[in-house]
Amino acid sequence: MEYKIALLAGDGIGPEVVAQALKVLNETGNKFGHRFVFTEGLIGAAAIDHTGSPLPPETLTLCRESDAVLFGAIGDPRYDNDPSARVRPEQGLLAMRRELGLYANVRPVRTFPALIDKSPLKREIAAGTDIMMIRELTGGIYFGKPQGRSEDGNTAYDSCVYSRFEIERVVRLACEYAMGRQKKVTVIDKANVLASSRLWRETAKSIAGEYPEIKMEFMFVDNAAMQIIQYPSSFDVLVTENMFGDILSDEASVITGSMGMMPSASIGSATSVFEPIHGSYPQAAGKNIANPAGTILSAAMMLDLAFNLKKEAEAINEAVERSVEAGFLTVDLDSRNPRSTSEVGDWIQKYIRNNF
Ligand code: IPM
Ligand code: MG
Repeated sequence: MEYKIALLAGDGIGPEVVAQALKVLNETGNKFGHRFVFTEGLIGAAAIDHTGSPLPPETLTLCRESDAVLFGAIGDPRYDNDPSARVRPEQGLLAMRRELGLYANVRPVRTFPALIDKSPLKREIAAGTDIMMIRELTGGIYFGKPQGRSEDGNTAYDSCVYSRFEIERVVRLACEYAMGRQKKVTVIDKANVLASSRLWRETAKSIAGEYPEIKMEFMFVDNAAMQIIQYPSSFDVLVTENMFGDILSDEASVITGSMGMMPSASIGSATSVFEPIHGSYPQAAGKNIANPAGTILSAAMMLDLAFNLKKEAEAINEAVERSVEAGFLTVDLDSRNPRSTSEVGDWIQKYIRNNF
């Protein structure tokens, strides 16, 4: 079958890591008899440079007309230290989430046995971590109105706004994931302080009523930040609002040893977007040193979730796992004998060619 994939490589190391996923997808397509048709689109700083907009309309149209989007990274240091910049690369990502209705970001956090000693946590604490983090992605303080400055410029405000239906759909998704796992959902909020969190708790409890087999627990976000580090293997599925999820998913990702290994899926009502969780890492751009595994594993998530190609996704996951076991690692994981971005991509591609 033929699948249309929009390729949004974005900024920094985005193009290099996406190029590796492309090789791996093409190899997988050849082996399993599928055709993946890629069309490139501009987003982020690269799009601002070419068009003035961080998400040009033609990119959005391309996403809407594709079966899935593979995304690299966004962000450019030219904008980071300039609070007065009127357009920013990140606006492209936020606009894409909003326009495509990507209400949930799904980030599996699993330790690779071969990398356990790279974790900043003690081996016995990190071992066995397998968390499915689900972050609400189109609501909360990222998008709430009003947002802005007072007339005199001395006061600024953001609003954390949630409606019941926004909470229901993402908590339901968390419950669906949990049904295929340990049947435990931890809802993270700040219900002792925030009105929006109290609506989260109330709504999540009503959804729990639809899933009698699921054990739902509630945790305040400050406590959760601590427990994720202290007892990571006690969690199954986590679900939380947009900004808590942004923070906690970065925290959880390092348990595995390198954020560079971690994939994610942003799913919603239309086309889904698959992207590594790392940023644009501008210091490494063009140097062929970034870890491509997060993007390659995101491509595997795309095959699984967007196209329902389970065997094919498994083949890619296995190939990445074997590359790690073989010690074929980029510099973030092996500073003594590092392999380049493209060497790791080639290894994974070849594994698929030779084993499937
Ligand atoms: C992420 C990133 C984005 C976010 C930034 C780049 C806007 O940190 O995807 O987690 O905050 O959502
Ligand atoms: Mg983030």
